[in-house]
Amino acid sequence: MRSHHCNQLRESHVGETVTLIGWVNSARDHGGVIFIDLRDREGLTQCVFHPEENPEVAKLSHTLREEDVVQVTGVVSKRLEGTTNDRIGTGAIEITAKQLNIVNKADVLPFQLDKELSNEDIRMKYRYLDLRRPRMNKNIRLRSVITSAARRFLDESGFYEIETPILSNPTPEGARDFLVPSRLNPGRFYALPQAPQQYKQLMMVAGLEKYYQIARCFRDEDLRADRQPEFTQIDLEASFVNQDDIIALVEGLLASMFKTGLGLDVPTPFPRMTYQDAMDIYGSDKPDTRYDIKITDLGDVFAATEFKIFRGTLDSGGVVRAINAKGFACVTTGQMNRLNEIAIQAGLPVKTLAFIKKENGEFKSPLWKFFTDAEKDALVAKMNIEEGDIVFFGAGARDTVSTILGRVRTECADMLELTKDSKAYNFLWVVDFPLLAHDEETGEWVAVHHPFTRPNAEDVAKLEAGDYANVRACAYDVVLNGYELGGGSIRIHEKDLQAKMFEVLGVGPEEQEIKFGHILDAFRFGAPPHGGLALGLDRIAMLAAGEDSIREVIAFPKNNKGADLMAHSPCQIDFKQLREVYVQSTWKDPKAAAPAAAPQ
Ligand code: AMO
Repeated sequence: MRSHHCNQLRESHVGETVTLIGWVNSARDHGGVIFIDLRDREGLTQCVFHPEENPEVAKLSHTLREEDVVQVTGVVSKRLEGTTNDRIGTGAIEITAKQLNIVNKADVLPFQLDKELSNEDIRMKYRYLDLRRPRMNKNIRLRSVITSAARRFLDESGFYEIETPILSNPTPEGARDFLVPSRLNPGRFYALPQAPQQYKQLMMVAGLEKYYQIARCFRDEDLRADRQPEFTQIDLEASFVNQDDIIALVEGLLASMFKTGLGLDVPTPFPRMTYQDAMDIYGSDKPDTRYDIKITDLGDVFAATEFKIFRGTLDSGGVVRAINAKGFACVTTGQMNRLNEIAIQAGLPVKTLAFIKKENGEFKSPLWKFFTDAEKDALVAKMNIEEGDIVFFGAGARDTVSTILGRVRTECADMLELTKDSKAYNFLWVVDFPLLAHDEETGEWVAVHHPFTRPNAEDVAKLEAGDYANVRACAYDVVLNGYELGGGSIRIHEKDLQAKMFEVLGVGPEEQEIKFGHILDAFRFGAPPHGGLALGLDRIAMLAAGEDSIREVIAFPKNNKGADLMAHSPCQIDFKQLREVYVQSTWKDPKAAAPAAAPQ
Protein backbone atom coordinates (compact mmCIF):
# COMPACT_ATOMS: atom_id res chain seq x y z
CA MET A 1 0.00 0.00 0.00
CA ARG A 2 3.04 2.29 0.09
CA SER A 3 6.35 2.76 -1.65
CA HIS A 4 8.07 4.44 1.33
CA HIS A 5 7.43 5.09 4.99
CA CYS A 6 6.94 8.59 6.32
CA ASN A 7 10.51 9.15 7.49
CA GLN A 8 12.28 7.87 4.42
CA LEU A 9 12.23 10.46 1.68
CA ARG A 10 15.16 12.87 1.32
CA GLU A 11 16.40 15.37 -1.27
CA SER A 12 17.91 12.49 -3.25
CA HIS A 13 14.35 11.28 -3.99
CA VAL A 14 13.25 14.56 -5.60
CA GLY A 15 11.39 13.89 -8.83
CA GLU A 16 10.27 10.36 -7.91
CA THR A 17 6.63 9.40 -7.79
CA VAL A 18 5.85 7.80 -4.45
CA THR A 19 2.90 6.49 -2.45
CA LEU A 20 2.61 6.99 1.31
CA ILE A 21 -0.09 5.87 3.73
CA GLY A 22 -0.75 6.88 7.31
CA TRP A 23 -2.64 9.23 9.60
CA VAL A 24 -3.26 12.93 9.09
CA ASN A 25 -1.17 14.37 11.89
CA SER A 26 -2.23 17.91 11.11
CA ALA A 27 -3.95 19.73 8.24
CA ARG A 28 -3.52 23.42 7.38
CA ASP A 29 -5.18 25.60 4.78
CA HIS A 30 -2.87 28.26 3.33
CA GLY A 31 -5.02 30.33 0.96
CA GLY A 32 -6.81 27.35 -0.49
CA VAL A 33 -3.70 25.14 -0.61
CA ILE A 34 -3.98 22.26 1.87
CA PHE A 35 -0.83 21.10 3.66
CA ILE A 36 -0.94 17.91 5.69
CA ASP A 37 1.67 16.19 7.79
CA LEU A 38 1.20 12.53 7.08
CA ARG A 39 2.32 10.28 9.94
CA ASP A 40 3.19 6.63 10.30
CA ARG A 41 5.19 5.02 13.10
CA GLU A 42 8.47 6.12 11.56
CA GLY A 43 7.78 9.84 11.28
CA LEU A 44 6.16 12.64 9.29
CA THR A 45 6.09 13.75 5.66
CA GLN A 46 4.48 16.95 4.43
CA CYS A 47 2.03 16.54 1.54
CA VAL A 48 0.71 19.53 -0.42
CA PHE A 49 -2.52 19.67 -2.39
CA HIS A 50 -2.33 22.47 -5.02
CA PRO A 51 -5.67 23.25 -6.71
CA GLU A 52 -3.88 23.84 -10.03
CA GLU A 53 -2.23 20.38 -9.94
CA ASN A 54 -5.45 18.42 -9.62
CA PRO A 55 -8.61 20.33 -8.69
CA GLU A 56 -10.56 17.18 -7.78
CA VAL A 57 -7.91 15.93 -5.37
CA ALA A 58 -7.41 19.42 -3.92
CA LYS A 59 -11.15 19.66 -3.27
CA LEU A 60 -11.16 16.32 -1.52
CA SER A 61 -8.19 17.39 0.61
CA HIS A 62 -10.34 20.13 2.18
CA THR A 63 -12.35 17.42 3.93
CA LEU A 64 -9.30 15.97 5.74
CA ARG A 65 -9.33 15.93 9.54
CA GLU A 66 -6.73 14.87 12.08
CA GLU A 67 -6.32 11.10 12.39
CA ASP A 68 -8.04 10.24 9.11
CA VAL A 69 -6.20 7.37 7.44
CA VAL A 70 -5.18 8.41 3.93
CA GLN A 71 -3.09 7.18 1.05
CA VAL A 72 -1.29 9.83 -0.98
CA THR A 73 0.46 9.41 -4.31
CA GLY A 74 2.57 12.28 -5.60
CA VAL A 75 5.95 13.58 -6.65
CA VAL A 76 8.76 14.30 -4.22
CA SER A 77 9.60 18.02 -4.46
CA LYS A 78 12.25 20.13 -2.83
CA ARG A 79 10.74 22.58 -0.34
CA LEU A 80 11.09 26.29 -1.13
CA GLU A 81 13.87 28.10 0.66
CA GLY A 82 12.78 29.28 4.09
CA THR A 83 10.10 26.57 4.37
CA THR A 84 12.37 23.66 5.29
CA ASN A 85 12.05 22.04 8.72
CA ASP A 86 15.22 20.63 10.29
CA ARG A 87 13.37 19.07 13.23
CA ILE A 88 12.17 16.20 11.06
CA GLY A 89 14.13 13.87 8.78
CA THR A 90 11.95 14.65 5.76
CA GLY A 91 12.08 18.41 6.39
CA ALA A 92 13.83 19.28 3.10
CA ILE A 93 11.13 17.79 0.87
CA GLU A 94 7.37 17.58 0.45
CA ILE A 95 5.02 15.52 -1.68
CA THR A 96 3.14 17.33 -4.40
CA ALA A 97 -0.02 15.23 -4.25
CA LYS A 98 -1.56 13.80 -7.42
CA GLN A 99 -3.94 11.29 -5.87
CA LEU A 100 -5.68 11.06 -2.52
CA ASN A 101 -7.45 8.00 -1.20
CA ILE A 102 -9.32 8.55 2.06
CA VAL A 103 -9.06 5.07 3.51
CA ASN A 104 -10.90 5.67 6.78
CA LYS A 105 -12.36 8.80 8.37
CA ALA A 106 -11.72 9.46 12.06
CA ASP A 107 -14.18 10.85 14.59
CA VAL A 108 -13.05 13.64 16.87
CA LEU A 109 -10.61 12.07 19.34
CA PRO A 110 -11.30 12.06 23.10
CA PHE A 111 -7.94 13.76 23.62
CA GLN A 112 -5.26 15.44 21.57
CA LEU A 113 -2.37 13.17 20.73
CA ASP A 114 0.27 15.89 20.82
CA LYS A 115 -0.49 17.02 24.39
CA GLU A 116 0.52 15.29 27.63
CA LEU A 117 -2.56 14.08 29.42
CA SER A 118 -2.66 13.89 33.20
CA ASN A 119 -5.85 11.84 33.42
CA GLU A 120 -4.50 8.31 33.31
CA ASP A 121 -7.96 6.72 33.30
CA ILE A 122 -8.74 8.33 29.95
CA ARG A 123 -5.39 7.24 28.58
CA MET A 124 -6.08 3.67 29.68
CA LYS A 125 -9.65 3.63 28.35
CA TYR A 126 -8.38 4.67 24.90
CA ARG A 127 -5.03 2.95 25.20
CA TYR A 128 -4.87 2.32 21.43
CA LEU A 129 -4.92 6.10 20.91
CA ASP A 130 -2.50 6.69 23.77
CA LEU A 131 -0.08 4.25 22.12
CA ARG A 132 -0.35 6.22 18.85
CA ARG A 133 1.49 9.11 20.49
CA PRO A 134 5.17 9.39 19.55
CA ARG A 135 6.41 9.08 23.14
CA MET A 136 4.54 5.82 23.72
CA ASN A 137 5.45 4.53 20.29
CA LYS A 138 9.11 5.20 21.12
CA ASN A 139 8.82 3.40 24.46
CA ILE A 140 7.24 0.30 22.94
CA ARG A 141 9.86 0.24 20.19
CA LEU A 142 12.68 0.60 22.73
CA ARG A 143 11.26 -2.28 24.71
CA SER A 144 11.19 -4.43 21.59
CA VAL A 145 14.77 -3.48 20.71
CA ILE A 146 16.18 -4.29 24.15
CA THR A 147 14.19 -7.52 24.33
CA SER A 148 15.66 -8.74 21.07
CA ALA A 149 19.13 -7.64 22.22
CA ALA A 150 18.64 -9.82 25.31
CA ARG A 151 17.55 -12.77 23.19
CA ARG A 152 20.51 -12.32 20.88
CA PHE A 153 22.97 -12.11 23.75
CA LEU A 154 21.62 -15.21 25.48
CA ASP A 155 21.34 -17.18 22.23
CA GLU A 156 24.97 -16.35 21.47
CA SER A 157 25.95 -17.36 25.02
CA GLY A 158 24.60 -20.87 24.46
CA PHE A 159 21.24 -20.56 26.23
CA TYR A 160 18.14 -22.39 24.99
CA GLU A 161 14.86 -20.46 25.04
CA ILE A 162 12.29 -22.79 26.59
CA GLU A 163 8.67 -22.15 27.58
CA THR A 164 7.19 -23.36 30.84
CA PRO A 165 3.53 -23.87 31.82
CA ILE A 166 1.25 -20.97 32.63
CA LEU A 167 -1.32 -23.28 34.17
CA SER A 168 0.75 -24.61 37.02
CA ASN A 169 0.94 -24.85 40.80
CA PRO A 170 1.52 -22.26 43.53
CA THR A 171 5.14 -21.06 43.67
CA PRO A 172 6.52 -19.59 46.87
CA GLU A 173 7.78 -16.20 45.60
CA GLY A 174 6.14 -14.27 48.41
CA ALA A 175 2.97 -12.96 46.75
CA ARG A 176 -0.60 -14.27 46.46
CA ASP A 177 -1.38 -16.57 43.56
CA PHE A 178 -3.90 -16.00 40.81
CA LEU A 179 -6.05 -19.12 40.68
CA VAL A 180 -7.76 -20.80 37.74
CA PRO A 181 -10.45 -23.41 38.40
CA SER A 182 -10.12 -26.70 36.52
CA ARG A 183 -13.34 -27.88 34.84
CA LEU A 184 -11.90 -31.33 34.22
CA ASN A 185 -10.79 -31.73 37.83
CA PRO A 186 -13.69 -30.53 39.97
CA GLY A 187 -12.61 -28.64 43.08
CA ARG A 188 -9.02 -28.28 41.88
CA PHE A 189 -7.22 -25.16 40.79
CA TYR A 190 -4.20 -24.17 38.78
CA ALA A 191 -2.12 -21.25 39.97
CA LEU A 192 -0.58 -18.88 37.44
CA PRO A 193 3.20 -18.84 37.91
CA GLN A 194 4.69 -16.12 40.10
CA ALA A 195 7.92 -17.16 38.37
CA PRO A 196 9.08 -20.27 36.48
CA GLN A 197 11.41 -21.05 39.39
CA GLN A 198 10.83 -24.75 39.93
CA TYR A 199 10.50 -25.59 36.24
CA LYS A 200 13.83 -23.95 35.44
CA GLN A 201 15.55 -25.89 38.19
CA LEU A 202 14.00 -29.10 36.89
CA MET A 203 15.41 -28.23 33.46
CA MET A 204 18.87 -28.22 35.04
CA VAL A 205 18.19 -31.69 36.45
CA ALA A 206 17.13 -32.57 32.89
CA GLY A 207 20.62 -31.70 31.67
CA LEU A 208 19.68 -28.69 29.52
CA GLU A 209 22.43 -26.67 31.25
CA LYS A 210 21.51 -23.17 30.06
CA TYR A 211 17.91 -21.97 29.92
CA TYR A 212 16.23 -18.63 29.43
CA GLN A 213 12.75 -17.39 28.82
CA ILE A 214 11.07 -14.05 28.33
CA ALA A 215 8.58 -15.21 30.92
CA ARG A 216 5.22 -13.77 31.87
CA CYS A 217 4.74 -13.88 35.66
CA PHE A 218 1.65 -13.25 37.75
CA ARG A 219 1.52 -11.94 41.30
CA ASP A 220 -1.53 -10.82 43.21
CA GLU A 221 0.10 -8.12 45.34
CA ASP A 222 -0.36 -4.44 46.10
CA LEU A 223 0.43 -2.51 42.95
CA ARG A 224 2.82 0.40 42.63
CA ALA A 225 4.53 2.33 39.87
CA ASP A 226 7.07 -0.48 39.46
CA ARG A 227 4.70 -3.39 40.04
CA GLN A 228 2.03 -4.92 37.85
CA PRO A 229 -0.05 -8.05 38.50
CA GLU A 230 1.34 -9.53 35.31
CA PHE A 231 4.83 -8.60 34.31
CA THR A 232 7.72 -9.98 32.32
CA GLN A 233 10.99 -11.49 33.47
CA ILE A 234 14.09 -12.33 31.54
CA ASP A 235 14.42 -15.55 33.46
CA LEU A 236 17.61 -17.60 33.28
CA GLU A 237 19.27 -20.58 34.87
CA ALA A 238 22.56 -22.41 34.31
CA SER A 239 24.28 -25.51 35.62
CA PHE A 240 27.86 -25.85 36.88
CA VAL A 241 28.09 -22.16 37.75
CA ASN A 242 28.92 -20.10 40.81
CA GLN A 243 27.77 -16.64 41.82
CA ASP A 244 30.55 -14.86 39.90
CA ASP A 245 29.58 -16.67 36.68
CA ILE A 246 25.97 -15.51 36.91
CA ILE A 247 27.04 -11.98 37.85
CA ALA A 248 29.41 -11.72 34.88
CA LEU A 249 26.77 -13.14 32.51
CA VAL A 250 24.09 -10.68 33.69
CA GLU A 251 26.49 -7.74 33.48
CA GLY A 252 27.18 -8.67 29.84
CA LEU A 253 23.45 -9.08 29.20
CA LEU A 254 22.50 -5.70 30.68
CA ALA A 255 25.40 -3.96 28.95
CA SER A 256 24.31 -5.36 25.58
CA MET A 257 20.69 -4.30 26.18
CA PHE A 258 21.68 -0.72 27.07
CA LYS A 259 24.20 -0.52 24.23
CA THR A 260 21.65 -1.69 21.67
CA GLY A 261 18.75 0.30 23.11
CA LEU A 262 20.45 3.57 24.02
CA GLY A 263 23.91 3.39 22.48
CA LEU A 264 25.21 3.58 26.04
CA ASP A 265 28.48 1.99 27.15
CA VAL A 266 27.73 0.59 30.59
CA PRO A 267 31.01 0.02 32.45
CA THR A 268 31.46 -3.48 33.85
CA PRO A 269 32.03 -5.04 36.33
CA PHE A 270 29.36 -3.28 38.41
CA PRO A 271 30.30 -2.32 41.96
CA ARG A 272 29.28 -4.84 44.63
CA MET A 273 27.98 -4.10 48.10
CA THR A 274 26.92 -6.44 50.87
CA TYR A 275 23.33 -6.33 52.02
CA GLN A 276 24.49 -5.20 55.47
CA ASP A 277 26.50 -2.29 54.05
CA ALA A 278 23.62 -1.28 51.79
CA MET A 279 21.32 -1.17 54.81
CA ASP A 280 23.83 0.57 57.09
CA ILE A 281 24.94 3.20 54.57
CA TYR A 282 21.83 3.77 52.47
CA GLY A 283 19.02 2.27 54.56
CA SER A 284 17.85 0.22 51.58
CA ASP A 285 18.66 -3.07 49.87
CA LYS A 286 18.28 -1.26 46.53
CA PRO A 287 20.19 1.96 47.10
CA ASP A 288 20.17 4.83 44.66
CA THR A 289 23.84 5.80 44.63
CA ARG A 290 23.44 8.76 42.28
CA TYR A 291 23.45 11.16 45.21
CA ASP A 292 25.84 11.24 48.08
CA ILE A 293 23.62 11.35 51.17
CA LYS A 294 24.91 8.57 53.43
CA ILE A 295 23.88 7.31 56.83
CA THR A 296 26.62 7.98 59.38
CA ASP A 297 27.01 6.17 62.68
CA LEU A 298 27.37 8.54 65.63
CA GLY A 299 28.12 5.92 68.29
CA ASP A 300 31.57 7.40 68.88
CA VAL A 301 30.35 11.01 68.96
CA PHE A 302 27.80 10.21 71.66
CA ALA A 303 29.73 7.44 73.46
CA ALA A 304 29.71 9.41 76.72
CA THR A 305 26.51 11.38 76.18
CA GLU A 306 24.17 12.20 78.99
CA PHE A 307 21.33 13.06 76.66
CA LYS A 308 18.77 10.57 77.92
CA ILE A 309 17.34 9.27 74.68
CA PHE A 310 20.72 8.63 73.00
CA ARG A 311 22.17 7.24 76.25
CA GLY A 312 19.31 4.78 76.66
CA THR A 313 19.51 3.69 73.02
CA LEU A 314 23.25 3.08 73.09
CA ASP A 315 23.11 1.29 76.46
CA SER A 316 20.47 -1.09 75.18
CA GLY A 317 22.51 -2.06 72.12
CA GLY A 318 20.83 0.31 69.68
CA VAL A 319 22.41 2.82 67.33
CA VAL A 320 22.39 6.59 66.90
CA ARG A 321 22.77 7.54 63.24
CA ALA A 322 22.10 10.50 61.01
CA ILE A 323 22.02 11.81 57.46
CA ASN A 324 22.97 15.26 56.25
CA ALA A 325 20.57 16.57 53.61
CA LYS A 326 22.91 19.24 52.30
CA GLY A 327 21.34 22.58 51.52
CA PHE A 328 17.89 21.53 52.75
CA ALA A 329 17.64 23.74 55.86
CA CYS A 330 15.05 25.62 53.81
CA VAL A 331 12.65 22.64 54.17
CA THR A 332 9.05 23.89 54.34
CA THR A 333 6.57 22.95 57.07
CA GLY A 334 4.63 20.89 54.52
CA GLN A 335 7.77 19.00 53.50
CA MET A 336 8.69 18.46 57.15
CA ASN A 337 5.23 17.02 57.83
CA ARG A 338 5.65 14.67 54.88
CA LEU A 339 9.08 13.54 56.11
CA ASN A 340 7.63 12.87 59.58
CA GLU A 341 4.79 10.88 58.03
CA ILE A 342 7.24 8.77 56.03
CA ALA A 343 9.44 8.19 59.06
CA ILE A 344 6.43 7.08 61.13
CA GLN A 345 5.39 4.63 58.37
CA ALA A 346 8.95 3.29 58.42
CA GLY A 347 8.80 2.65 62.17
CA LEU A 348 9.61 5.94 63.93
CA PRO A 349 8.07 5.48 67.40
CA VAL A 350 7.57 9.23 68.03
CA LYS A 351 5.74 11.90 66.04
CA THR A 352 8.65 13.95 64.72
CA LEU A 353 12.10 13.31 63.39
CA ALA A 354 14.92 14.80 65.42
CA PHE A 355 16.96 17.29 63.39
CA ILE A 356 19.61 19.98 63.52
CA LYS A 357 19.89 22.69 60.91
CA LYS A 358 22.39 25.47 60.41
CA GLU A 359 20.96 28.78 59.29
CA ASN A 360 22.55 32.23 59.43
CA GLY A 361 25.50 30.72 61.26
CA GLU A 362 23.29 29.32 64.05
CA PHE A 363 22.44 25.75 64.89
CA LYS A 364 18.71 25.31 65.32
CA SER A 365 17.40 22.19 66.93
CA PRO A 366 15.34 20.95 69.84
CA LEU A 367 18.33 18.71 70.69
CA TRP A 368 21.23 21.11 70.47
CA LYS A 369 21.01 22.21 74.12
CA PHE A 370 21.41 18.64 75.35
CA PHE A 371 24.85 18.18 73.78
CA THR A 372 28.19 19.10 75.35
CA ASP A 373 30.54 21.39 73.44
CA ALA A 374 32.79 18.44 72.64
CA GLU A 375 29.82 16.49 71.27
CA LYS A 376 28.70 19.49 69.22
CA ASP A 377 32.18 19.89 67.70
CA ALA A 378 32.52 16.20 66.97
CA LEU A 379 29.03 16.06 65.44
CA VAL A 380 29.60 19.08 63.19
CA ALA A 381 32.92 17.63 62.03
CA LYS A 382 31.67 14.08 61.47
CA MET A 383 28.48 15.12 59.67
CA ASN A 384 30.21 17.99 57.85
CA ILE A 385 27.41 20.38 58.83
CA GLU A 386 27.71 23.61 56.86
CA GLU A 387 25.50 26.66 56.42
CA GLY A 388 22.14 25.65 54.93
CA ASP A 389 22.36 21.96 55.90
CA ILE A 390 19.87 19.89 57.86
CA VAL A 391 20.77 16.69 59.68
CA PHE A 392 18.11 14.10 60.54
CA PHE A 393 18.71 11.66 63.41
CA GLY A 394 17.58 8.13 64.08
CA ALA A 395 18.02 6.37 67.41
CA GLY A 396 16.90 2.81 68.11
CA ALA A 397 17.31 -0.72 66.79
CA ARG A 398 19.82 -0.88 63.92
CA ASP A 399 17.41 -2.18 61.27
CA THR A 400 14.63 0.24 62.17
CA VAL A 401 17.00 3.22 62.14
CA SER A 402 18.32 2.11 58.73
CA THR A 403 14.82 1.83 57.30
CA ILE A 404 13.69 5.20 58.66
CA LEU A 405 16.78 7.11 57.55
CA GLY A 406 16.77 5.26 54.22
CA ARG A 407 13.22 6.44 53.45
CA VAL A 408 13.95 9.98 54.65
CA ARG A 409 17.07 9.96 52.48
CA THR A 410 15.18 9.13 49.27
CA GLU A 411 12.36 11.53 50.08
CA CYS A 412 14.82 14.40 50.71
CA ALA A 413 16.55 13.56 47.41
CA ASP A 414 13.16 13.76 45.66
CA MET A 415 12.28 17.04 47.35
CA LEU A 416 15.68 18.46 46.44
CA GLU A 417 15.28 17.07 42.89
CA LEU A 418 18.77 15.62 43.14
CA THR A 419 18.24 13.17 40.28
CA LYS A 420 15.86 15.22 38.13
CA ASP A 421 18.15 15.79 35.17
CA SER A 422 20.54 12.97 35.92
CA LYS A 423 21.68 10.88 32.99
CA ALA A 424 23.61 8.50 35.27
CA TYR A 425 22.96 4.76 35.25
CA ASN A 426 24.35 3.51 38.56
CA PHE A 427 24.25 -0.26 38.35
CA LEU A 428 25.34 -2.22 41.39
CA TRP A 429 25.12 -5.66 42.92
CA VAL A 430 23.85 -6.26 46.41
CA VAL A 431 25.23 -9.56 47.69
CA ASP A 432 25.27 -11.64 50.87
CA PHE A 433 21.58 -11.28 51.63
CA PRO A 434 20.36 -13.03 54.75
CA LEU A 435 18.80 -16.42 53.97
CA LEU A 436 15.92 -16.06 56.42
CA ALA A 437 13.89 -13.32 58.05
CA HIS A 438 11.74 -13.54 61.13
CA ASP A 439 8.11 -12.61 60.57
CA GLU A 440 7.19 -10.75 63.75
CA GLU A 441 3.46 -11.21 63.16
CA THR A 442 3.37 -14.96 62.64
CA GLY A 443 6.53 -15.76 64.60
CA GLU A 444 7.71 -17.86 61.64
CA TRP A 445 10.91 -17.78 59.63
CA VAL A 446 10.45 -16.88 55.97
CA ALA A 447 12.83 -17.13 53.02
CA VAL A 448 14.24 -13.71 52.09
CA HIS A 449 14.65 -14.76 48.43
CA HIS A 450 12.85 -18.08 48.06
CA PRO A 451 13.13 -21.54 49.65
CA PHE A 452 15.36 -22.89 46.89
CA THR A 453 18.19 -20.48 47.67
CA ARG A 454 21.42 -21.97 48.89
CA PRO A 455 22.85 -21.01 52.27
CA ASN A 456 26.39 -19.68 52.20
CA ALA A 457 28.68 -22.71 52.74
CA GLU A 458 30.36 -20.95 55.67
CA ASP A 459 27.00 -20.57 57.45
CA VAL A 460 25.49 -24.05 57.04
CA ALA A 461 26.57 -24.93 60.59
CA LYS A 462 24.56 -21.96 61.87
CA LEU A 463 21.54 -23.27 60.00
CA GLU A 464 21.99 -26.65 61.67
CA ALA A 465 22.44 -24.96 65.05
CA GLY A 466 19.24 -22.92 64.69
CA ASP A 467 21.06 -19.58 64.51
CA TYR A 468 18.81 -18.62 61.60
CA ALA A 469 19.20 -14.84 61.79
CA ASN A 470 22.90 -15.06 60.94
CA VAL A 471 22.83 -17.38 57.95
CA ARG A 472 23.82 -15.61 54.73
CA ALA A 473 22.40 -16.72 51.39
CA CYS A 474 24.15 -17.19 48.05
CA ALA A 475 21.72 -14.61 46.73
CA TYR A 476 22.31 -11.43 44.76
CA ASP A 477 20.22 -8.55 43.42
CA VAL A 478 21.14 -6.23 40.60
CA VAL A 479 20.08 -2.66 41.30
CA LEU A 480 19.83 0.40 39.06
CA ASN A 481 19.20 3.94 40.36
CA GLY A 482 17.22 2.77 43.38
CA TYR A 483 15.25 0.02 41.61
CA GLU A 484 15.70 -3.70 42.03
CA LEU A 485 16.15 -4.81 38.43
CA GLY A 486 16.66 -8.45 39.17
CA GLY A 487 17.32 -11.06 41.76
CA GLY A 488 18.72 -14.55 41.83
CA SER A 489 20.65 -17.12 43.75
CA ILE A 490 22.70 -20.25 43.65
CA ARG A 491 20.29 -23.06 44.49
CA ILE A 492 20.16 -25.97 46.80
CA HIS A 493 20.62 -29.13 44.71
CA GLU A 494 20.72 -31.72 47.50
CA LYS A 495 17.53 -33.37 48.69
CA ASP A 496 18.44 -33.33 52.38
CA LEU A 497 19.46 -29.70 52.49
CA GLN A 498 16.29 -28.74 50.60
CA ALA A 499 14.18 -30.74 53.06
CA LYS A 500 15.99 -29.04 55.95
CA MET A 501 15.22 -25.65 54.44
CA PHE A 502 11.52 -26.50 54.12
CA GLU A 503 11.52 -27.70 57.71
CA VAL A 504 13.01 -24.38 58.93
CA LEU A 505 10.26 -22.61 56.98
CA GLY A 506 7.65 -24.63 58.84
CA VAL A 507 6.79 -26.96 55.93
CA GLY A 508 6.49 -30.41 57.48
CA PRO A 509 7.32 -33.71 55.71
CA GLU A 510 3.76 -34.35 54.61
CA GLU A 511 3.28 -30.88 53.11
CA GLN A 512 6.72 -31.13 51.52
CA GLU A 513 5.65 -34.31 49.78
CA ILE A 514 2.40 -32.77 48.50
CA LYS A 515 3.77 -29.42 47.41
CA PHE A 516 7.38 -30.07 46.53
CA GLY A 517 7.60 -33.87 46.11
CA HIS A 518 8.55 -33.44 42.44
CA ILE A 519 11.57 -31.26 43.16
CA LEU A 520 12.74 -33.30 46.17
CA ASP A 521 12.40 -36.42 44.02
CA ALA A 522 14.33 -34.84 41.16
CA PHE A 523 17.20 -34.05 43.50
CA ARG A 524 17.59 -37.81 44.12
CA PHE A 525 18.60 -38.52 40.54
CA GLY A 526 21.80 -36.60 39.99
CA ALA A 527 20.95 -32.90 40.23
CA PRO A 528 23.80 -30.69 39.03
CA PRO A 529 24.88 -27.60 40.99
CA HIS A 530 22.98 -24.70 39.46
CA GLY A 531 21.93 -21.10 39.87
CA GLY A 532 20.28 -18.26 38.04
CA LEU A 533 18.50 -14.96 38.15
CA ALA A 534 15.48 -13.15 36.79
CA LEU A 535 15.48 -9.58 35.52
CA GLY A 536 12.34 -7.46 35.51
CA LEU A 537 12.06 -6.53 31.82
CA ASP A 538 9.40 -3.89 32.49
CA ARG A 539 11.64 -2.10 34.98
CA ILE A 540 14.62 -2.20 32.62
CA ALA A 541 12.52 -0.77 29.79
CA MET A 542 11.10 1.89 32.14
CA LEU A 543 14.55 3.09 33.23
CA ALA A 544 15.97 2.93 29.72
CA ALA A 545 13.01 5.00 28.46
CA GLY A 546 13.46 7.53 31.28
CA GLU A 547 9.92 6.88 32.59
CA ASP A 548 8.88 6.57 36.20
CA SER A 549 6.19 3.91 35.88
CA ILE A 550 6.30 0.52 34.18
CA ARG A 551 2.81 1.28 32.83
CA GLU A 552 4.55 3.56 30.30
CA VAL A 553 6.42 0.65 28.73
CA ILE A 554 3.66 -2.00 28.77
CA ALA A 555 1.26 -1.91 25.83
CA PHE A 556 -1.84 -2.82 27.84
CA PRO A 557 -1.14 -2.44 31.56
CA LYS A 558 -3.53 -2.63 34.48
CA ASN A 559 -4.28 0.35 36.71
CA ASN A 560 -3.56 0.49 40.46
CA LYS A 561 -6.63 -1.62 41.14
CA GLY A 562 -5.52 -4.33 38.74
CA ALA A 563 -8.13 -3.32 36.18
CA ASP A 564 -7.90 -2.89 32.41
CA LEU A 565 -10.18 0.10 31.78
CA MET A 566 -10.22 -0.48 28.04
CA ALA A 567 -11.24 -4.14 28.00
CA HIS A 568 -13.15 -3.90 31.32
CA SER A 569 -11.18 -6.68 32.88
CA PRO A 570 -11.68 -8.25 35.38
CA CYS A 571 -15.34 -8.79 34.60
CA GLN A 572 -18.27 -10.55 36.22
CA ILE A 573 -18.78 -14.13 35.16
CA ASP A 574 -22.30 -15.41 34.95
CA PHE A 575 -23.60 -18.10 37.22
CA LYS A 576 -23.75 -20.75 34.47
CA GLN A 577 -20.09 -20.35 33.54
CA LEU A 578 -19.07 -20.44 37.19
CA ARG A 579 -21.08 -23.61 37.74
CA GLU A 580 -19.26 -25.30 34.87
CA VAL A 581 -15.99 -24.88 36.79
CA TYR A 582 -17.58 -25.75 40.15
CA VAL A 583 -17.13 -22.28 41.60
CA GLN A 584 -19.64 -20.42 43.71
CA SER A 585 -19.01 -16.77 44.55
CA THR A 586 -19.28 -15.75 48.19
CA TRP A 587 -18.95 -12.09 47.28
CA LYS A 588 -21.88 -9.85 48.11
CA ASP A 589 -22.36 -6.44 46.58
CA PRO A 590 -22.41 -4.10 49.61
CA LYS A 591 -24.52 -1.63 47.61
CA ALA A 592 -27.17 -4.21 46.69
CA ALA A 593 -30.50 -3.94 48.49
CA ALA A 594 -30.85 -6.25 51.48
CA PRO A 595 -32.99 -9.29 50.62
CA ALA A 596 -36.64 -8.85 51.48
CA ALA A 597 -37.62 -10.41 54.79
CA ALA A 598 -39.21 -13.82 54.43
CA PRO A 599 -43.02 -13.74 54.71
CA GLN A 600 -44.29 -14.60 58.18
P1 AMO B 1 12.14 -11.98 42.11
O1 AMO B 1 10.90 -12.27 42.86
O2 AMO B 1 13.20 -11.17 42.78
O3 AMO B 1 12.89 -13.32 41.71
O4 AMO B 1 11.75 -11.30 40.74
C1 AMO B 1 12.73 -10.95 39.79
C2 AMO B 1 12.47 -9.57 39.24
O5 AMO B 1 11.17 -9.46 38.69
C3 AMO B 1 10.71 -8.12 38.81
N1 AMO B 1 9.40 -8.11 39.49
C4 AMO B 1 8.35 -7.37 39.09
N2 AMO B 1 8.22 -6.49 38.09
C5 AMO B 1 7.01 -5.90 37.93
N3 AMO B 1 5.94 -6.18 38.69
C6 AMO B 1 6.01 -7.06 39.71
N4 AMO B 1 4.92 -7.34 40.44
C7 AMO B 1 7.27 -7.70 39.96
N5 AMO B 1 7.72 -8.62 40.85
C8 AMO B 1 9.00 -8.85 40.55
C9 AMO B 1 11.74 -7.36 39.62
C10 AMO B 1 12.50 -8.47 40.29
O6 AMO B 1 13.82 -8.10 40.58
N6 AMO B 1 12.42 -16.77 40.68
C11 AMO B 1 13.18 -15.64 41.16
C12 AMO B 1 14.41 -15.39 40.35
C13 AMO B 1 15.51 -16.38 40.60
O7 AMO B 1 15.80 -16.74 41.76
O8 AMO B 1 16.15 -16.78 39.58
C14 AMO B 1 12.30 -14.41 41.14
O9 AMO B 1 11.23 -14.38 40.59
O10 AMO B 1 12.57 -6.64 38.72
